[in-house]
Amino acid sequence: MTDTKFFVCRCFYTHNYFLKDYDIHVIFENERQFLNDYEMNLKQRGCNTKLKLDHVMNQLMVEQERRKNLGRDYLMRRETIKKNYQRLHPEIYTLKESYFAPEFKKLIDLCSEFDTTSDKLFELISPTGGERVFSFPVFTKEFCQLFMEELEHFEKSDCPKGRPNTMNKYGILLNELGFDEGFLNPFREKYLQKLAAILYPEWGGSQLDSHKAFIVQYKMGEDLDLNYHYDNAEVTLNVSLGKTYTGGSLYFGNMRTVPLEDTECSEYNHEAGIGIVHRGQHYHGALPIHNGERYNLIVWMRSSKVRNNLCPMCDHKPQLVETVGYGDGFTQPTVNLCTLN
Ligand SMILES: [Fe+2]
Ligand SMILES: [Zn+2]
Repeated sequence: MTDTKFFVCRCFYTHNYFLKDYDIHVIFENERQFLNDYEMNLKQRGCNTKLKLDHVMNQLMVEQERRKNLGRDYLMRRETIKKNYQRLHPEIYTLKESYFAPEFKKLIDLCSEFDTTSDKLFELISPTGGERVFSFPVFTKEFCQLFMEELEHFEKSDCPKGRPNTMNKYGILLNELGFDEGFLNPFREKYLQKLAAILYPEWGGSQLDSHKAFIVQYKMGEDLDLNYHYDNAEVTLNVSLGKTYTGGSLYFGNMRTVPLEDTECSEYNHEAGIGIVHRGQHYHGALPIHNGERYNLIVWMRSSKVRNNLCPMCDHKPQLVETVGYGDGFTQPTVNLCTLN
């Protein structure tokens, strides 16, 4: 990590609380504001008894506590894992080119040539049906296997586990496990950024200066699907690691600035080792798996240059709050001394 200090936007503590039972994102500042703004709407969605409403309120308070303590808890979990967790495959914590599918290496080589345009890349990446959503092989099957074994090994350990975000109950935060320094930082800086620079220049593709990476798991009896949403990212990479499952297609709609009723979705079947990239603010979701188990690596890449102007989660100029690690990828604007007099 560089010396840059990263921040979250104040809205992190109040906005985008997801209530899965009622498929709605809400703002939660306090109980009174919440009831004023959402009681009617929730009633229409089936939250029609005091018991159900109490349950919602409880969920919101628990989530609010999680967010308030996130920085402290993250540091504690990271320390405990570092001290106590015995890695199963220590070698995979350092990125090596041999982990990449040959097609991915070719793709990045092509991106590195100075006159490469997106047209040239289309021989190596496939459209998925979604607008500017592309798929291509990323990792070898062997690497996916080792990676999943490591994740399962960690799951079975009694180390503390953080939750990836408000929508996924099951999964692993890769920074807590120690994957940022040797694996994800170079993966973003030396590889993904080159691709994003060509595919998504207007989303800061060439200046993706931080990320949040996590594993999401879908399994019978646990999370089966993922509701329609957009990511807190400028560019997202989603790699399917396996295992075997049926169902679970991804679907894409419009960018978040387009009214929802104009949406027609396109579906995409995700296979092991294959990654897809899309703009973070492109609405998407995952259909339920019918059986089996599915692991996906998600890398939310952020460009402070883009998001410092507008926070995608509250649609305002971000109000910076100090945090640890990459936060949500906001940085303090530097004062240009040349303009002062
Ligand atoms: Fe997502
Ligand atoms: Zn915000």
